[in-house]
Amino acid sequence: MTEKNYPKYTSAWLPYPMPGKAASPKDAARLELDAGLAYYGFDTPVILREEDLGEGYRIEVSEEAISIFAKEAGLLYGAFALLRDIALGKKPESCVQQPVYALRMLNHWDNMDGTVERGYAGRSLFFEGSRFDYDPERLRMYARILSSAGINTVALNNVNVHAPAQHLIDDLLPEVVEVAGILRPYGIRLLITVDFASPTYNGLSTADPLDEAVIAWWKQRTAAIYQQIPDLAGFVVKADSEYRPGPITYGRNQAEGANLLARALKPFGGTLVWRCFVYNCRQDWRDQKTDRPCAAYNTFMPLDGQFDDNVLLQIKNGPVDFQVREPVSPLLFSLKHTSRALELQLAQEYTGQQIDLYYMQEVWQEIFDLMPRNNISAICAVTNLGRDENWAGHDLAMANLYAYGRLCWNPDCLGEDMADQWAKLTYGKDCPAVDTITHMLHQSRSTYQKYNAPLGIGWMVEPHSHYGPNPEGYEYALWGTYLRADRNGVGIDRSSNGTGFAAQYPEELKKLYEDPTTCPEEMLLFFHRMPYDHVMKDGRTMIQRIYDDHFEGAEGAEQLLASWKTLEGQLPGDVFARVLDKMEKQVINARNWRDIVNTYFHRYSGAEDQKGRKIY
Ligand code: GCU
Repeated sequence: MTEKNYPKYTSAWLPYPMPGKAASPKDAARLELDAGLAYYGFDTPVILREEDLGEGYRIEVSEEAISIFAKEAGLLYGAFALLRDIALGKKPESCVQQPVYALRMLNHWDNMDGTVERGYAGRSLFFEGSRFDYDPERLRMYARILSSAGINTVALNNVNVHAPAQHLIDDLLPEVVEVAGILRPYGIRLLITVDFASPTYNGLSTADPLDEAVIAWWKQRTAAIYQQIPDLAGFVVKADSEYRPGPITYGRNQAEGANLLARALKPFGGTLVWRCFVYNCRQDWRDQKTDRPCAAYNTFMPLDGQFDDNVLLQIKNGPVDFQVREPVSPLLFSLKHTSRALELQLAQEYTGQQIDLYYMQEVWQEIFDLMPRNNISAICAVTNLGRDENWAGHDLAMANLYAYGRLCWNPDCLGEDMADQWAKLTYGKDCPAVDTITHMLHQSRSTYQKYNAPLGIGWMVEPHSHYGPNPEGYEYALWGTYLRADRNGVGIDRSSNGTGFAAQYPEELKKLYEDPTTCPEEMLLFFHRMPYDHVMKDGRTMIQRIYDDHFEGAEGAEQLLASWKTLEGQLPGDVFARVLDKMEKQVINARNWRDIVNTYFHRYSGAEDQKGRKIY
């Protein structure tokens, strides 16, 4: 590990001075309380008491003292919850809390060369120059930030395991052990993302999951890892997806592949997190029968019941790939005999790359409005963090991390205004900027959606970078991502008359989506191919709605910038300047989207804007 001049990092939503090193979660809880209570000027004594409540805690408030009953990380969660209430100006109350999900995960897509796949906050927190390279102090800050929101599990390395990350499970293991040791006092456990073909890098001729030598290799390797990291949460695997090796490479199915690793982990209580992002990434655009959203369901549903009980299938929230508007993945409704994790993306790959403001609480609310929370047993998110001094590149993007942690602890928090909480915790409850910031966060999603791809269509982005508009950037490509716009209309018919995707949903949702008159309009073009003159519920034609949305979206971005400008002097100067810079870029991006998308559809449809605005 090299010592460097690392930037002075912001304290996220824990503004009091970072306490010294803790040896255990209980120790960390005490130190956080001492530092936090002093900072907030709260003088009722707080006592930590041992009681086995799993990861949960119980708080008892009396006139003389406040007691937190819990064990290990539960004490820390209780301490952070109490400090949060105090920071928000709430009177502490007696309560009992248990997390709804045992695994509350973050996936870093960090490569060991220091780059971060889909990372918008600088270089990797953990790696540089093909080796571990981190500031231990910063990792402690990172761990307490996660823990204070409720996150308890992290995978450090990219789902695409690039060299030398294959060796995190052998040669590089001692350094993984060190990181695990830094995170452990904050109740954070590691997952290691492994390459399914690992045995072939270690002298075996195959990684076939049914091969005896392969089975023995994984058992032996896994046992050796657990000797070093007894509390490892498990492995993450991206298999048979976007050129990654997997069981299909060896003529086996996904359950046979997953069970191989699950059985190696089982004796140690480990979980195998197996991603469901499996589709044909070499599709011929001329092939109109293959429909990418159908892929995950078609691959995994026939295997329901064949996965071992410590396999967790990790399912992206939508059936395609974190697009701005997608329906909830049908796999999240249909699998009945296999544990599932919902996978979200805090990294704003398609949602503005931490340049454009995009607050996600509403997105998650829509998922949980449709999907009972016990349809899943864990939540995971691709992280938005990196080496930038403000952690997430855009200061306000930290609101997503905060809300995400709270969501994993208990989705009921979606009923609270997490944006307001985050702003108060970060800038102080009496900071005059709080209301404006909260309002901006709540405006951000609909603003972005309006100037982005219309009505659920997706994929109008610049290929590879995925920032900025390019309507046909993916139209004649191999990725199965088509709009199929022509002079008559746009979209793909995914009803029973078309590709049949809608039939993957439970009956009630299927009915809703199948019919263009009942399909939610924001997703009309996800499920249907519609003519430009289709009349929307409010009487406008579809093309007019597209034009209006794009003009309004770009105006919305300008309003966000104007709102931010009113905060000068109300926030630390560096925060104000950093966000100002982002918001100015967002306005340019929004105008590009407006003009390119409107021009694109104007050229195809020939329809004039009824308000006579400029379309190029
Ligand atoms: C998207 C993203 C990739 C990533 C992949 C995944 O396709 O663009 O960078 O590897 O998702 O989730 O595995």
